[in-house]
Amino acid sequence: MHRIPITVSLLLAAAALALSLAACGERAPEPEIKPPAPPISARGNPARELDGMRRHVPVDVEITPLPMARVENFDRTRERAYPMQPPTIPHSIDGYQVDLNSNRCMLCHARSAAASFQAPPVSVTHYMDRDDQFLAEVSPRRYFCVQCHVVQTDAQPLVANGFMDIDAVLRSERPQ
Ligand code: HEC
Ligand code: HEC
Repeated sequence: MHRIPITVSLLLAAAALALSLAACGERAPEPEIKPPAPPISARGNPARELDGMRRHVPVDVEITPLPMARVENFDRTRERAYPMQPPTIPHSIDGYQVDLNSNRCMLCHARSAAASFQAPPVSVTHYMDRDDQFLAEVSPRRYFCVQCHVVQTDAQPLVANGFMDIDAVLRSERPQ
């Protein structure tokens, strides 16, 4: 069996040490700073752009909050985007309680109260149970109004919206 002379092995060890030190000393190349990635949009659909929610501010930068939006209180019916859309609430609902014991919305929107408040009564669907039976009271599944009906604010949309009304779709498809 060959025995490596002690001097040679010492030399080899020293060389290995020097090499590894050199490797450590050499700093890893700086990561290339890339320009911010374009907004994540699914198939070019700006409505699904996620980054827009942060107004394109990187996650490690604190964002200046937008001023608080005001609830629109115009008392005017808004256009519905499709026939079965729950209409948006055209008045403010601050402090309107809806819980087990009372439903402030029904104070005005119940069939029996609507006339005295000049409010549109909830439609007949709100009295139907899931078997399409008509109940005397508002159906439990329509009890929590803000599940479906929402107020609108004057906030600017954070992401673009390419929604087209069905009438506009039909019009665009019709031969000129
Ligand atoms: C003090 C009476 C009153 C109360 C309480 C009330 N509303 Fe109204 N609501 C009205 C009146 C009146 C209108 C008609 C438009 C207007 O004058 O604001 C209306 C309109 C609406 C509309 C629009 C209907 C349409 O066809 O466009 C919705 C939806 C609505 N209210 C939902 C609610 C919900 C949900 C609540 C409870 C959180 C509520 N309202 C509480 C009086 C009331
Ligand atoms: C599960 C969703 C849902 C809930 C909960 C709900 N609604 Fe509606 N609402 C709708 C839809 C959808 C429409 C439009 C189609 C229709 O009339 O069913 C509507 C219509 C209305 C309208 C307009 C009626 C008309 O004839 O133009 C009023 C007013 C209204 N809702 C008030 C209320 C109130 C008040 C509550 C709570 C007691 C409530 N809704 C709960 C879905 C809901």
